[in-house]
Amino acid sequence: MLTRQFPHVVLLPGLLNDARLWQHQSAGLADNAQFWIGDLTTADTITGMAEAVLESAPVEKFVLAGMSMGGYVALEIMRQAPERILGLALLDTSARPDTPTALENRRAAIERAEVDFQAVINELMAKQLHPSHLDDQYLVGLVNDMALSLGKHTFIRQQKAMSNRIDSLPFLPLIKCPTLVICGREDAITPLGAHQEMVSAIEGAGLVIIDDCGHLSPLEQPMAVNDALSQWLGTIELKA
Ligand code: MLT
Repeated sequence: MLTRQFPHVVLLPGLLNDARLWQHQSAGLADNAQFWIGDLTTADTITGMAEAVLESAPVEKFVLAGMSMGGYVALEIMRQAPERILGLALLDTSARPDTPTALENRRAAIERAEVDFQAVINELMAKQLHPSHLDDQYLVGLVNDMALSLGKHTFIRQQKAMSNRIDSLPFLPLIKCPTLVICGREDAITPLGAHQEMVSAIEGAGLVIIDDCGHLSPLEQPMAVNDALSQWLGTIELKA
């Protein structure tokens, strides 16, 4: 009997998220894959974050999944080392660079973080979570705790990195590996249209839209995300 090898999956978190963002995927899909979480907390550019992940990834070839800022880094990895990526999952992210308004919002958030980081976390969380999840004490506590444990200096570094990111849209047609795009239907930070745009530009990409879900789909709707990821992982050819 032939047994299928497990893929190594590198998971990239978003702004102010640590490994706990992916806790339900790491636990729930442990029979389908071996997971490793990339560290996006030390570099201050998206390019530098991508280089750090590529240098420290445990294997040469792997499946890559990035959420939000992690998706920006995943797209940069696709530019730097496409030959190492067996499959790409983009969750609640965008290929676009910041608009002038988004840049201004980031600049203001950096200034506010210097004086009242908790207020910045609260404001961010109100956009990250679906309205129906804002009174889920476990979720709110977890998102708050991840943010506090990474701290304001990481927040400022990550905001600066994101504000300088390039437009990835022109590069999307170059992506040739199996690609899955997942989006919370009510994602208020990277809306559905940004995902539809990526799916149109990447040949063969699939789109899964998750109901009752905001920006943090891996935590807000873990079962739906795991179903989509496990079906997709089963289709990926594991080349040596
Ligand atoms: C994230 O969740 O990584 C960020 O909110 C994305 C962004 O600010 O562009």
